Amino acid sequence: MARGFAPGKCILFGEHAVVYGHPAVAVAIDSGVRVSIEESREWTLEGMPFEPSRHPHISHILNRVFQYDGTPLRMEVESDLFSAAGLGSSAALSNAIGAALQAHINPGQPLDPIALARMGHSAEAMAQKGRASPTDTATSALGGCIVVSGEHVQGTRHVFDAELETPEGLREWSINTVELPDNLSEAWLVIGFTGEMSSTGKMVAGVANLLEEQPELRDEMDAIAKITSAGLTAMSAGNLEAIGMAMDACHEKLRLLGVSSPSLESLVEAARPHSLGAKLTGSGGGGCMIALARDPQRVAEAIEVAGGKPLVSRLGAPGVRLLED
Ligand code: MEV
Repeated sequence: MARGFAPGKCILFGEHAVVYGHPAVAVAIDSGVRVSIEESREWTLEGMPFEPSRHPHISHILNRVFQYDGTPLRMEVESDLFSAAGLGSSAALSNAIGAALQAHINPGQPLDPIALARMGHSAEAMAQKGRASPTDTATSALGGCIVVSGEHVQGTRHVFDAELETPEGLREWSINTVELPDNLSEAWLVIGFTGEMSSTGKMVAGVANLLEEQPELRDEMDAIAKITSAGLTAMSAGNLEAIGMAMDACHEKLRLLGVSSPSLESLVEAARPHSLGAKLTGSGGGGCMIALARDPQRVAEAIEVAGGKPLVSRLGAPGVRLLED
């Protein structure tokens, strides 16, 4: 049996602004998706007959990327991520299935995380009608802390470039890693799920409409870019207080772009007195918020009391990998 695991991600700074070419900073989290694959008499997914049209990410990777025409497979998927909640669950699924398939087809060959990130991005793009940034797939594949930007960002290590022909034309991104100082392990990321699923496509389209109606809101995008840059400097310096302040500031700008929601506001408000900073993460409109905390248990309790579902992670977990039997 071949088994792969890929982590989910949280965006710390720069969601939505990254769609307009500004930088975003994301970290891989401890929770993720596990996929196991073995040969079988018929195609199954989680014990049920596999219907490719219902699972576009999986069928894209099987047919388009691997051009797999071998023996039918029994596929099992286990996830400890909230789905459609801004944690990159579909990217993690693409990467984990790509890893398990590669191990099934070429046992013993080491994984190539960049190749997996590229195939995950193509699966995301196909599933989201040609509009997907490589943030989720690259963070899940490479692990650690990732900066995605329209141009190279100082103080980061360039890993690869990605491009995509979108309905609005060709988009290009530079994908970079950042070494996190040891003292960042004193703080934890506490994720709070509102219980409300959210569509990234809809939220991104909503921001585009708002910008058309109120062009002056472009200043808020520029402000997010400045906050992202300050947040990144604080991360590189291991300055937890400054990271938290940048998170708070980023949340205020995202509110002005109309992507917060009453449930996100109530979890952010509940977390703030016990944390260094708190904000919504991902596309908003429901989904998850994150808080940076030295005492994650306290924040997790506050989130739970406010009606959210907490999940604690370190900042920058390892990326996609094969699991031993
Ligand atoms: C979604 O996780 C983040 C957004 O910036 C969309 C994207 O980067 O494609 C809202």
